[in-house]
Amino acid sequence: MNKLPAIPAQRLPELLRRMPKAELHIHIEGSLEPELIFALAKRNGVAIPYASVEELRRAYAFTNLQSFLDIYYAGASVLITEQDFFDMAWAYLEKARADNVVRAEIFFDPQTHTARGVAMETVIAGLHRACVKAATDLGVSASLILCFLRHLSEEEAFETLEQALPWRDRFIGVGLDSSEVGHPPEKFARVFARCRELGLHLVAHAGEEGPPAYVWTALDLLKVERVDHGVQSSKDPQLMRRLAQDRIPLTVCPLSNLKLCVFPRLQDHNLRELLDAGLMATVNSDDPAYFGGYVNDNFLQTFEATGLSAQQAWTLANNSFEASFIGAGEKRKYRDRLDEVFAEFAE
Ligand code: HPA
Ligand code: ZN
Repeated sequence: MNKLPAIPAQRLPELLRRMPKAELHIHIEGSLEPELIFALAKRNGVAIPYASVEELRRAYAFTNLQSFLDIYYAGASVLITEQDFFDMAWAYLEKARADNVVRAEIFFDPQTHTARGVAMETVIAGLHRACVKAATDLGVSASLILCFLRHLSEEEAFETLEQALPWRDRFIGVGLDSSEVGHPPEKFARVFARCRELGLHLVAHAGEEGPPAYVWTALDLLKVERVDHGVQSSKDPQLMRRLAQDRIPLTVCPLSNLKLCVFPRLQDHNLRELLDAGLMATVNSDDPAYFGGYVNDNFLQTFEATGLSAQQAWTLANNSFEASFIGAGEKRKYRDRLDEVFAEFAE
């Protein structure tokens, strides 16, 4: 939209909810709500060391990324059957629909499951079935991105890739997640080069807790197309210029950053600084069941705390489409829908 219509300030929250958006940073295992953890534990006869949903939720008080990951991997241990993976993804996709997410690019962590004896086929089949159904039943376009766990070895990442290749057509790319500090992107340079040859899209978590140097090596050695989080980039002016010039998208997750103590308060988040520097920032939920909100909660709370404008809302939603791995025609279609919703909200 060349000139954005004036939007009354009091209508901004409703506009944030209503505007179509893409979610590009969502770990499907991080959408597993405590209620579903308990239901699946019961269905599968898996013991969990919490007496109730409330007790489990009370354990969600994190001090850093690792304190979260320990409980996140424990929660995922209730996932056993293809139906479990379907049910988890379907629950997320229904929430996405309610938040006017029209496109979701969904991370999954196969090593968390294959290490427990769950077959790769089981994981991918359940998640894929939910994605196919979302297109027809919800009007949500969804694709999968396979993440390698960076605390494990590159050799294990290669084995995981081999196990997944029979289902190459069921995921569009690969990512890199788990414990960042001490596991720099360069540890995975060879496996990412192989994935690049296979025509997979490449993304990686970098600069969540780790230094700007990790963002540089994600770009230059892994050759990623997007950086997940990337918020530490603001400590390096040269990196900020590079990200702006090359229009490298950052998939920012404000409530995650708050809950993992990357920023002390939401008011201190640097999303505005990233936008002001011309970076292609997007807003996402990361692990919504653990961090207190889905994507619209991230928009609403961040706008409330930092005073971002309707223009910035439009930019963030438009960036989410620009940064997604869909074709130019689809990007245009979603941008038109975005403009239509903004026009409805004009004074
Ligand atoms: N960072 C790293 N690994 C993760 C995250 C995250 O925010 N969420 C799930 N796995
Ligand atoms: Zn993440």
